[in-house]
Amino acid sequence: MNSLTWENDILLFAKLPVLELARAYQTPLFVYDQDQILSRINEVKKIAKTYHNISIYYASKAFLTLAMAKIIKDSHLGIDVASRGELFIALKGNIQPSDILYHGNNKSIEDIHYAIEQGVRKFVVDSVDELMHMKELTDQINTHIEILIRIIPKIDDINTHKNITTGHHGSKFGIDMDLHLEQVASIIKEAEYLSFQGLHFHVGSQLFTNTFHLQAVEQVFKYMQQLRENYQIVIKEINIGGGFGIKYKEQDQPMPLQLFIEPIIKRIDDLAKIFKFPMPKISIEPGRFIVGGTALILYTVGAIKPGTPSSFVAIDGGMTENLRVALYQAQYDVICVNKTSHTLETYTVVGQACESTDLMVEHAKLPKLKRGDTLAFLQAGAYEHSLIHNFNKTLRPTVLMVHQGVERVIQQRETYEALIARDFE
Ligand SMILES: Cc1ncc(COP(=O)(O)O)c(C=O)c1O
Repeated sequence: MNSLTWENDILLFAKLPVLELARAYQTPLFVYDQDQILSRINEVKKIAKTYHNISIYYASKAFLTLAMAKIIKDSHLGIDVASRGELFIALKGNIQPSDILYHGNNKSIEDIHYAIEQGVRKFVVDSVDELMHMKELTDQINTHIEILIRIIPKIDDINTHKNITTGHHGSKFGIDMDLHLEQVASIIKEAEYLSFQGLHFHVGSQLFTNTFHLQAVEQVFKYMQQLRENYQIVIKEINIGGGFGIKYKEQDQPMPLQLFIEPIIKRIDDLAKIFKFPMPKISIEPGRFIVGGTALILYTVGAIKPGTPSSFVAIDGGMTENLRVALYQAQYDVICVNKTSHTLETYTVVGQACESTDLMVEHAKLPKLKRGDTLAFLQAGAYEHSLIHNFNKTLRPTVLMVHQGVERVIQQRETYEALIARDFE
């Protein structure tokens, strides 16, 4: 992990001693490295600039707080929001409504109306039902909005965990254009206030190959031809989603982003030439790629007990601030912060929630542990914080952001009082 270094047996993260952070702010503790986030953003921006000036929408579902919204705003990126909550935070973070792309497979009419009132003008449409309601709403309020249609690209062998696959036949996301192209086209043609920009797909997350994006592009061109031949509709934009994988474990071999994206752009360019379409504008929605490798979660070791096949070591959190393991068997490297050793023991690191799925890392090789030791989960920047929950009435932890060697609290630990603040007897 780029931000981590050992100096004289002291572990530093973003140049700060990790153990001191854990002691000063209590565990569980998220620590983000803003300099790394900025460097990932710059990498994406550089590539985007090279190829036809691709538009970047940060997929905010990966990690979003006011501080993150500010980073996105100051970096002049667009943002993809997939709920009214994400939209609210983006707006509160002063992101320009014109930089927001509103996603979601079940936006209510009120959500869409609220977004339009706030100045949002670009939406990804996920169903024919939504398209009809958008038409009705924009007719009523006489307001123009731009739309992209999310298609189901129907790729069935996407090799990432099945729970983070979204481009297969039975996906709940997007419109089956083989069945609904005619309906979509006729609504678009009739709708005075819907400005149809193009097609969107997102095949899945944490991908180590661009094969599936390339297949999805072929599908997009099939629908583009049908839209042009049968309805004289020509699209202006293709949004290829996110999904760019990162390294969690030694065996992971993500593609460099440029090598991932370049052939996709080339294929779009080639197909546009073959079928005589103007080259569409291209947009991407990276989430994990920007934040995944930029944070760790620190925990304190509690109970240790014999177990099968190895001893259990319990930490003062678990699935409550990292649900990825239970949701899709995500794997992490875990290290001991306060000691190193040449002889390592094998442990099963478990959380403290009353759920058997709260089993965080199996076969972890760690120095001999005792209560009070500090452990760090690495590459914990994408979808861990976003999936935090209060199971067992666990308090949500502090989040730190380190920038140029100085840490600041960007989200404070929840209080016990906050647990009942919404309750009535
Ligand atoms: C529509 C859409 N775009 C972008 C993303 C971001 O994916 P990733 O974090 O893998 O880049 C997601 C993730 O679920 C998504 O659903």
